[in-house]
Amino acid sequence: MTNKWSPTSWRNKPGLHMPEYGDKDKLHEVEERLAGFPPLVFAGEARELKKRLAEVANGNGFLLQGGDCAESFAEHTADNIRDFFRIFLQMAAVLTYAGGSPVVKVGRIAGQFAKPRSSAVETKDGVELPSYRGDIINAMEFEAQSREPDPQRQIMAYRQSAATLNLLRAFAGGGYANLEHVHQWNRNYLKDSPAGDRYEDLADRISESLRFMRACGLTPENVPQLRSTSFYVSHEALLLRYEQALTRIDSTSGEHYATSGHMLWIGDRTRQLDHAHVEFARGVKNPIGIKCGPTIEPDELIKLNDILNPDNEAGRLTLICRFGAGEGAQHQAKLIRAIEKEGRSVVWSCDPMHGNTVKASSGYKTRPFNDIMQEVGEFFDIHQAEGTHPGGIHIEMTGQQVTECTGGAHGIKETDLSARYHTHCDPRLNANQSLELAFLIAERMTKDRVGETADVPASLMGF
Ligand code: PEP
Ligand code: CO
Repeated sequence: MTNKWSPTSWRNKPGLHMPEYGDKDKLHEVEERLAGFPPLVFAGEARELKKRLAEVANGNGFLLQGGDCAESFAEHTADNIRDFFRIFLQMAAVLTYAGGSPVVKVGRIAGQFAKPRSSAVETKDGVELPSYRGDIINAMEFEAQSREPDPQRQIMAYRQSAATLNLLRAFAGGGYANLEHVHQWNRNYLKDSPAGDRYEDLADRISESLRFMRACGLTPENVPQLRSTSFYVSHEALLLRYEQALTRIDSTSGEHYATSGHMLWIGDRTRQLDHAHVEFARGVKNPIGIKCGPTIEPDELIKLNDILNPDNEAGRLTLICRFGAGEGAQHQAKLIRAIEKEGRSVVWSCDPMHGNTVKASSGYKTRPFNDIMQEVGEFFDIHQAEGTHPGGIHIEMTGQQVTECTGGAHGIKETDLSARYHTHCDPRLNANQSLELAFLIAERMTKDRVGETADVPASLMGF
């Protein structure tokens, strides 16, 4: 791909999973307004995230990426954001301890609104309407007018992202991320969980460490790293009109950055080498994720690396594997070997959600917790066998006690799904299941001792 890149060059390529808007005048007006709005993130932050991811690519640290499958306008409340952030911090704390290395915290939040859909239309009782494509595009109600793509929704998504990000920044820097509190929340969780006893040991060891640090005078009151954290936001760069409007030249480096989020990823259905999404992503300097499903071949993956990371910069690319439990071990090993053979620097991450979606007999889409954990376990096994670093996980989760995925210590059954099934798209791990997943990974890390802290620069350390 030698053609000159510009923020608009994606428009000359075929692009899948993007809507056709009826009212072109309104669409152009929205794009112009968005292009004049302040950026949501600053290029310097995206560079800092890239540095942290470079450490992970080099084997030091772990990427925790997670959040809603699709954010919604209706559920935009302070409580939802706070509960998500709290669970996320709790997960990060146990993973930091167990891995003995920094956890890079990246939410699927403040911009995760656009969805690729397996079918362009949905049929109910003989009525056919365009599919719901996420709140940034149309509305979920099964009515003709709601399903019409509405450009104005991009402005609403931008404003919601700004408000969400504002609160997250306040939480991350304003004392909510106090490690001693986070640990106390974990202790409370273990008290209430049927699986709590199993992890008491790990929690005791963290308590001991905190007591020891306090005795040495290292407390959240006087050590900023113990009361604040770095938190980044990410989403799938699917609706390229929106992404283009928020792409800006960074005055420090003169380079283009997407300012809709710190990290963007390309979905499994839009990663064709010669299509619009890869074209857009190749020109922005943010960290980029690529979802890798069962259809990606090693040579294709290398070509994607050539296009998206020609200088082989560490931290630029995160390969998010989503094969399904028991499905992808051989295939993933081939991908890993190709990347190793070519000497490419990448972060390997595991999305154990999207390959494990099943339909319950009640009709709900769900994901069995055991399948999710099996895929995570296989991911660690494969990397252990290949001598590479299992660098992170990518999950769909919420801080609420929804009933969308079956299983976990609380034993959610298929018949429970209807009680609190709130997702706007795919089934998410609820608060308890998310923490349980973190404790299980922590157990595995403790066994494997993933990552060593010795080479991590002091500037990147801290909670
Ligand atoms: C998603 O992350 O919600 C998604 C659609 O994933 P994938 O592109 O891997 O199917
Ligand atoms: Co999803």
